[in-house]
Amino acid sequence: MTDQTRILMCSPDHYDVDYVINPWMEGNVHKSSQAKAVEQWQALHAIIKEHAIVESVPPAKGWPDMVFTANAGLVLGKKAILSRFYHPERQGEEPYFKAWFAENGFQVYELPQDLPFEGAGDALFDRGTGALWAGYGFRSELDSHAYIAQWLDVEVLSLRLIDPRFYHLDTCFCPLDDGYVLYYPPAFDTYSNALIEKRIPEEKRIVVPEPDAVNFACNAVNVGDVIIMNKISTELENAIHAKGFKTRQTSLTEFLKAGGAAKCLTLKTTEPVQGEPQANHPVDSRIIHLEGHLLDAGILNTALDLINEQGGSAKVLNFNLGLERKNTSSANVRVSAPSSTVMEDMMLALIEMGAINASDEDVKDADLETISQMGVAPDDFYVTNIYPTEVRVRGQWISVSHQRMDGAIAITENNGQIQARCRLLRDLQVGEKVVVGVDGIRTNHKTTKHASQDKQEFSFMGAGVSSERRVELVVENIAWELQKIRSQGGKVAVTAGPVVIHTGGAQHLSSLIRQGYVQTLLGGNAIAVHDIEQSMMGTSLGVDMNKGVPVRGGHRHHLKVINTVRRCGSIANAVEKGLITKGVMYECVKKNVPFCLAGSIRDDGPLPDTEMDLIRAQTEYSRLLEGTNMVLMLSTMLHSIGVGNMTPAGVKMVCVDINPAVVTKLSDRGSVESVGVVTDVGLFLSLLTRQLDRLNDEVGVTV
Ligand code: ARG
Repeated sequence: MTDQTRILMCSPDHYDVDYVINPWMEGNVHKSSQAKAVEQWQALHAIIKEHAIVESVPPAKGWPDMVFTANAGLVLGKKAILSRFYHPERQGEEPYFKAWFAENGFQVYELPQDLPFEGAGDALFDRGTGALWAGYGFRSELDSHAYIAQWLDVEVLSLRLIDPRFYHLDTCFCPLDDGYVLYYPPAFDTYSNALIEKRIPEEKRIVVPEPDAVNFACNAVNVGDVIIMNKISTELENAIHAKGFKTRQTSLTEFLKAGGAAKCLTLKTTEPVQGEPQANHPVDSRIIHLEGHLLDAGILNTALDLINEQGGSAKVLNFNLGLERKNTSSANVRVSAPSSTVMEDMMLALIEMGAINASDEDVKDADLETISQMGVAPDDFYVTNIYPTEVRVRGQWISVSHQRMDGAIAITENNGQIQARCRLLRDLQVGEKVVVGVDGIRTNHKTTKHASQDKQEFSFMGAGVSSERRVELVVENIAWELQKIRSQGGKVAVTAGPVVIHTGGAQHLSSLIRQGYVQTLLGGNAIAVHDIEQSMMGTSLGVDMNKGVPVRGGHRHHLKVINTVRRCGSIANAVEKGLITKGVMYECVKKNVPFCLAGSIRDDGPLPDTEMDLIRAQTEYSRLLEGTNMVLMLSTMLHSIGVGNMTPAGVKMVCVDINPAVVTKLSDRGSVESVGVVTDVGLFLSLLTRQLDRLNDEVGVTV
């Protein structure tokens, strides 16, 4: 059996590291010794000859990497798929390999011009099932796998390589006799690792530790029970022996400098066709259309990165550049994924970015499913985002109303009129239809403008004088905006946490409310308790707000306050009775600014106004938020996240917090309308009121 195995090699006459096309070659240009390389190659040749018939392809001058015959092509039976090298540095090897295949009786298949595939370096037959493991991510394109599956009539299992040191599949994965595999898991993405684990039982997987992996232990030639490879550790040697294999180790250091070892230097030309033909390539591909400020807003980059990160591959088919800044651009991109699950996840993310499914046959109606349990959606229900969305129902694109994040899309029909609206999970009724999957959905991001404006964050306390000035600039902007909204009769919502009070912001927030800049206040029990404590007792959590020192017995102040308000029955009654004479809550009552205090986890209250039924509180929040033009999020992460989810794109959001992580989280809506300010909220409010006063002085407005 073993003596029938034929292996193709190419003598290293012209071998050298002449250029850099992989990380191993970096720093090694012309650093390999020709004499030593020849010696090592001959030693390998001699060992292989003991186990197989060695054939050779004549080396060609000027093509130093031709020694790596694994990259000549992929052979099965008498068919050979010729490599299409990714790097021009190696493309000149193609005609030589092609000639060799043709002269030796192989039927040569050639991939389309622009579809890289690097032969047996990136495609290895499973010795157990005959399926083909095929790598992509660096040298070979995922789309080549479909051709291979069809031409060779095999099942192709695509594996995504993610570590540039392991740029070819054969550098980190080696199928062995009887269905074993020698491999280095960190070289693959999660999906690929899951696929390997699913297909190869644990006892047949020999995991190579990193020190051996970087010595190309996986780059091995297996003939029968013998594994021919570069030197390995005793640890790995033992692991291999334990599975019944023998090793033949020979030093290949000179070739490591070019990023190759034993396996790269060989190509098995006797690959028996195994089992039933089963052309099967789960590669799913479709065309998406992107439109908008693709370059300015970085949409195209983000989309391509996303496809790559999720394990797909992308090819921009055409790109129409909007020539002026105000013009939008458009592009069609072919997206491929190794499986329909990966495709579905990827499409979801792309749709969220505003991509439209453009393959004609792919423009389908949305799939609808009927709710069978109250408040529970089907597993793959479409989860909404903040962008204007349309769904295709019976060939018609319908705009979704009540756009918000994290809902489902419910479809109803009234007298032949189809309606789509965002619905919360808990509101779903039995019999109602919701959208599932990713077909027939599009979102509109046309308003998204400059990437640089996307996630503005300004650090006040952070560093330097310049950032201080920058915060002032942002505050000037926000003040101007507030002024404009007020004069147009618009609506500003404020979410505020108790920190607003502790940091001395109460007087400023009070003044904003008094001057009509705030139309609704959302928070929890705490902001109200601390605000009232401050107005009634002059302390916040027992600390004297003027002197900054704890007051004796002050830790009971908030309880006294709660008790007093409870006695009155409501904050409004306490204001009415003259018990509360200033502060945030006082101004809300006086100016008829509706507020909602959502819950309390402390059991020392709550205030009578606090809504302890959270579902009712959430409903009230979203009611109060309707028609809002701007939300000021003042140092309360949870209330702000809630509000962010309830608010559609287009509503300006200003998130202020001393913790940059909170600001990043809140302003990360991927849209132009959010501004993050990293600063002390008390200082922010004081700057803001000062700026508003200045504006009012200028225009001579008196309130
Ligand atoms: N310098 C060559 C390249 O980067 C090395 C090829 C190694 N071959 C392999 N099958 N891994 O293309």
